[in-house]
Amino acid sequence: MSQQIQTMFSNIAPTYDQANHALSFNKDVQWRKDAVAQMLKDGFRPSRVLDLCAGTGDFALAVKEQAPQVQVVLADFSKAMLQLAQKKAGNLQGLDLLEADALKLPFHDMAFDAVVCGFGVRNLDSLEQGLREIARMLKPGGRVAILEFFKPTGLFNRLAHTFYVSAIVPMRGGAISGNKQAYDYLQKTAKNFASLDEFKGLMEKCGFKDITMESKTMGVAVSLVGVRK
Ligand SMILES: C[S@@+](CC[C@H](N)C(=O)[O-])C[C@H]1O[C@@H](n2cnc3c(N)ncnc32)[C@H](O)[C@@H]1O
Repeated sequence: MSQQIQTMFSNIAPTYDQANHALSFNKDVQWRKDAVAQMLKDGFRPSRVLDLCAGTGDFALAVKEQAPQVQVVLADFSKAMLQLAQKKAGNLQGLDLLEADALKLPFHDMAFDAVVCGFGVRNLDSLEQGLREIARMLKPGGRVAILEFFKPTGLFNRLAHTFYVSAIVPMRGGAISGNKQAYDYLQKTAKNFASLDEFKGLMEKCGFKDITMESKTMGVAVSLVGVRK
């Protein structure tokens, strides 16, 4: 399964940013910036950060914007995505790129002060294994920031989410990328993903506490920041 997902992401890499901005009505850039600010709240100053499922690097770049001194490792299993990240980063110092599977990362325990993951965890073969792996790589007191689409609960959120995910994502994403199949996959994973409560519960089970949540654009996306126990 992960081989298929890897190929799919590599295929849509050239138009990924354009589709993202169109699908979110340009809100995704601000969503990542706000998630970084949420993570850095109360004077938290990480030295080493992992951007997991980094894609074209927007989350890593948002981290560097607000904490220029940090070293960020961008990990993704799509070489095509990482090549675009490299291009966007230009001469920016303090970024390392790693082509690797999120469930088989070559880092020792407690290697990072923080992990960010934007729209990545729902693609993993095992969500629980992914969260346990993030917890393993974080120092106690370290923080994780996850930005995702969750299964909505309230009626209004359900309607907004269903409209966005079922109608807008495959139509606009398919048109921009020329790959409707990929955006059908993405909308299905968003629809079938955990609810926010389920996800928060799983984070707690996997070693996180003091979890804060911020809803983005009427609950279309949500950022969660948790502290490694
Ligand atoms: C929806 S994109 C998100 C990219 C970026 N984080 C963002 O905020 O836009 C998901 C990314 O996760 C990567 N990915 C999915 N499953 C992965 C896995 N098991 N290991 C490593 N990367 C993975 C894909 O290659 C893709 O670049």
